[in-house]
Amino acid sequence: MEKHSPERLPRYSPIDELAAAGRPHYRVRRSRILKAVGLGCLVFVAYTQWAHLKLESSRNVSILSPARLQADLETCKVLQHKPKDPSGPRERNARYIDGHKPTLIRNATIWTGEPVAGTTAADARLGKGYGWIKSDVLLEYGLITQVGPEISPSLLPEDCQIWDAEGRQLTAGIVDMHSHTGVYPVPTLNGGSDGNELSADITPYVRSIDGLDPLDHQLQVIKSGGVTTSLILPGSGNNMGGEAFIIKHAVGKDDGRAEIGPKDMLADPEQNWRYMKMACGENPKRIYGDIGRGPFSRMGESWYFRHAFEEARAMVTAQDDWCAAASNIGAENMKEYLPQDLKWESLGAALRGQVHINTHCYTIADLEAFIDHTNEFKFPVRAFHHAHQTFLVPEILKRAWGGRAPAAAIFADNMYYKVEAYIGSEQAGKILYDNDITPVYVSDNPVLNAQHVVFEAAKGYRYGLPYHAALASVTTAPAELLGMGERIGKVKNGFDADIVVWDSDPLSVGATPVQVWIDGTAQYPDPVVLEKQFSEPISPNEDLQAEIKEEPTTKTNVVFTGVSKIMIPGFEHILEGSDKPANVIVEAGKIVCAGPCAAEISTALSAKVEVISLKSGYLSPAYTAFGSDIGMSEITSESATQNGHEGSDVFSRAIDGLLLTGKQLKASYAHGVTRAVSAPAHLGGGQQGVGVGFSTGASHSLEKGAIWSPEATLHYTLSLAAKEGKTPSLSSAIGSLRTKLLEAVASNDTIADTYSEKAFLKRAVAGDIPLVITVNSADTIAAILRVKSDVENAIKAQDLESSSQKLNVVLLGAAEAHIVADEIAAAHVSVVLAPLLPYAEEWDTRRSLSGAPLTNGTNIDVLLDAGVLTAIGTRDTESWEVRGLSLMAGIAYKNSGGRLSESAALALIGKNFDKILKSKTSNDDFVLHEGSPFDIGSRVKAVGSQGRVSVY
Ligand SMILES: *[C@@H]1O[C@H](CO)[C@@H](O)[C@H](O)[C@H]1NC(C)=O
Ligand SMILES: *[C@@H]1O[C@H](CO)[C@@H](O)[C@H](O)[C@H]1NC(C)=O
Ligand SMILES: *[C@@H]1O[C@H](CO)[C@@H](O)[C@H](O)[C@H]1NC(C)=O
Ligand SMILES: *[C@@H]1O[C@H](CO)[C@@H](O)[C@H](O)[C@H]1NC(C)=O
Repeated sequence: MEKHSPERLPRYSPIDELAAAGRPHYRVRRSRILKAVGLGCLVFVAYTQWAHLKLESSRNVSILSPARLQADLETCKVLQHKPKDPSGPRERNARYIDGHKPTLIRNATIWTGEPVAGTTAADARLGKGYGWIKSDVLLEYGLITQVGPEISPSLLPEDCQIWDAEGRQLTAGIVDMHSHTGVYPVPTLNGGSDGNELSADITPYVRSIDGLDPLDHQLQVIKSGGVTTSLILPGSGNNMGGEAFIIKHAVGKDDGRAEIGPKDMLADPEQNWRYMKMACGENPKRIYGDIGRGPFSRMGESWYFRHAFEEARAMVTAQDDWCAAASNIGAENMKEYLPQDLKWESLGAALRGQVHINTHCYTIADLEAFIDHTNEFKFPVRAFHHAHQTFLVPEILKRAWGGRAPAAAIFADNMYYKVEAYIGSEQAGKILYDNDITPVYVSDNPVLNAQHVVFEAAKGYRYGLPYHAALASVTTAPAELLGMGERIGKVKNGFDADIVVWDSDPLSVGATPVQVWIDGTAQYPDPVVLEKQFSEPISPNEDLQAEIKEEPTTKTNVVFTGVSKIMIPGFEHILEGSDKPANVIVEAGKIVCAGPCAAEISTALSAKVEVISLKSGYLSPAYTAFGSDIGMSEITSESATQNGHEGSDVFSRAIDGLLLTGKQLKASYAHGVTRAVSAPAHLGGGQQGVGVGFSTGASHSLEKGAIWSPEATLHYTLSLAAKEGKTPSLSSAIGSLRTKLLEAVASNDTIADTYSEKAFLKRAVAGDIPLVITVNSADTIAAILRVKSDVENAIKAQDLESSSQKLNVVLLGAAEAHIVADEIAAAHVSVVLAPLLPYAEEWDTRRSLSGAPLTNGTNIDVLLDAGVLTAIGTRDTESWEVRGLSLMAGIAYKNSGGRLSESAALALIGKNFDKILKSKTSNDDFVLHEGSPFDIGSRVKAVGSQGRVSVY
């Protein structure tokens, strides 16, 4: 758990634990200052000690229990055992529940997770030998027992159920190696927050399973995205956070289990391996650091790590000495019991190599320090998580103790949110893979909704990771890293029968499970299946492995050839009835011709204008980011980089606080998002004040075309963040807005300050500026619709002539809008979904629709059916989402069951904002992609805005 600041939780006791705790009796003291003068004294003391001990033993007065000494000797075996990965082929899966029938899945297109037999390791790395095969799969006793084409019905067990995949893609269940589901149940509430034991920085002794809530509905939502196994880690507040556990997402009778409980969910009931979470960097020092208390800095963290390892090592050494002596002279002759300390037991096991350590570490300094710890204390680390800077230092990772470089568990493009994430690359996955470091994509649920973790892998492919490695990054790679490489992650005989059948290639946009099996049991008796045409798997596009240019070349005149699709309004017909690709002629940054354009081409060529030829060129209007904080904030957790946050009693205009040219804006622009509407941030989330419409590629706000709407929107926030300052309750916040609007209706005063809140409220009640309200709860939306009607009635009562005046209300966020979709439509209110696919992260989003196979459609489907003017925006603190806008529109399109045409889907991130803003200015910004912007394998090649074209 990364970004959810645990600062609200009680602070750690001011006593420095390391200073206060007594040293255990087995500590080996190392005297450093042996001055010549003191030496004689020490020798004397040592002599008397020795003499005393000798006397003791000659008396032979042992009062130790022989039975306990014998038991201690048995414990030595347990302490010193070397775990192995549990093997595959078995009679039955230990998780199998008697009575569950065998199942044959017929006619599937299967990704087994392995190359064909005989493929060399070198070829396999390149992806040779991998492919989708047409096959059947037989599941028995919770295991995969046969994978082969057309398994004959005569060979099937008697009671076998048959499930027809109808040719669809089938993979092993997805494995998410970084999740907090169950320990941070959603919606987030204080009473259920059990993921960080913040009583001390070093808590290797706590266990995530002891806080795991099996009734967390998110476990089910995650499974609906095809995730069958998750590693449940404690949070990253502590340098040593505690033990982690791998679970399967099958809970209770509904999911085919005999009981409900965390133990029943363990993916490996024998618990062959143990797991532990550690964390470096910003979080522990932020949580614990204070004057006189640590860790305060990365230096302190490193010491806290080393000190803890030293404690555990001392115990391990003392134990090993005891065990060696006891097996030599007999346990009954031992003068003391086996030294044990529950506090250091798990860390001792880690030093004994029985624990797969997963460490949250971003920066080069943190990574190198941790690698140093592995060598100083001789233990392996399995993976670095978050790990944004690992792509810069693969050679440091390769210096890890034990000769095995840790993997990097990362997000695809969620970056820049804190200083340690401000260095990051979309191509990290590819670069790591090229350098023999295994990339794994993870959710950090609830930071990302793990339902969509496979989409992270899909984006990894989009950004250059080979297709087979992208699929491996959420199946075989995490399975192997968990020590479960013979049990999960593949579709192969002897593996656990965890299977997903998808409605399209799992790495394609909008891919959704049709059915999920865990240990051979189908999880959905009646799954919702999206209406989608059958599609073959993606043919991997190796062009995607080319380097992504971060710095474009800028041109004013340029010719593009090879454009096979044009989605610019007014130009769509150009390619109708023609299978010849079009040319696009750009002059002074504007498209002057699209089509054959023979005359223009020859003019351009004679003027030596550069010609850029595209493969499957796709021309579309550029996109708009609405509601994000780009232009207002660069690093979410660093106030120096931001305009700032305002309480309910402050009012300002975003144009006065605009911050241009940051990395967030650059990334947005590179993904075709040339325009944004951003507003000043409200305390605790949301927006307040006047939003500005600006160009994301502008270098400053006085540049030509930088500001296309200085006062685009008027924002208020009625999400949970509204409860602050003078409006401590939602009702007072809603009442305050109503009062302001009614006063604006009633007041005839001339307003001297035309930039004041009063002035903008008057414009809002005159219908001249959209009133954008950040809100998620259906209950609050209902209250807003009531306010709208109250205000409109007041307008009507006051002035018959303007009775047609209507407030232009826009709901931003709107996670629960589907519940009141008809009412929203009837009130002529529009909706900007931010994000497109919300989840039950907060109390006011808890009724979000997660989509198939669990729910019939998502928010947008219901809103479109109700006839609501809808667009797709971005959450205010999740600016990284801006770069994914075209893929979000793609998901809406592909999963709309025909509700949306391609151009209607593009309008969700473009033209619909013109309607919402009642914008009269024309917008000629455009994007040229290779491939459809709705496809995972497309890439932006050129962006036109502000009279110039940026070529990537
Ligand atoms: C101590 O006592 C145990 C039995 O209680 C005996 O087996 C052992 O030989 C004795 N050792 C010595 C040094 O006398
Ligand atoms: C398998 O599925 C494909 C695609 O739906 C279909 O065309 C084919 O006929 C099916 N084959 C069998 C044997 O059912
Ligand atoms: C504002 O003007 C309207 C008519 O122009 C009038 O009916 C109304 O009473 C005035 N309101 C106030 C508060 O003076
Ligand atoms: C899903 O909802 C649509 C209406 O939006 C309805 O036509 C369809 O029958 C529903 N499907 C299921 C499986 O309930």
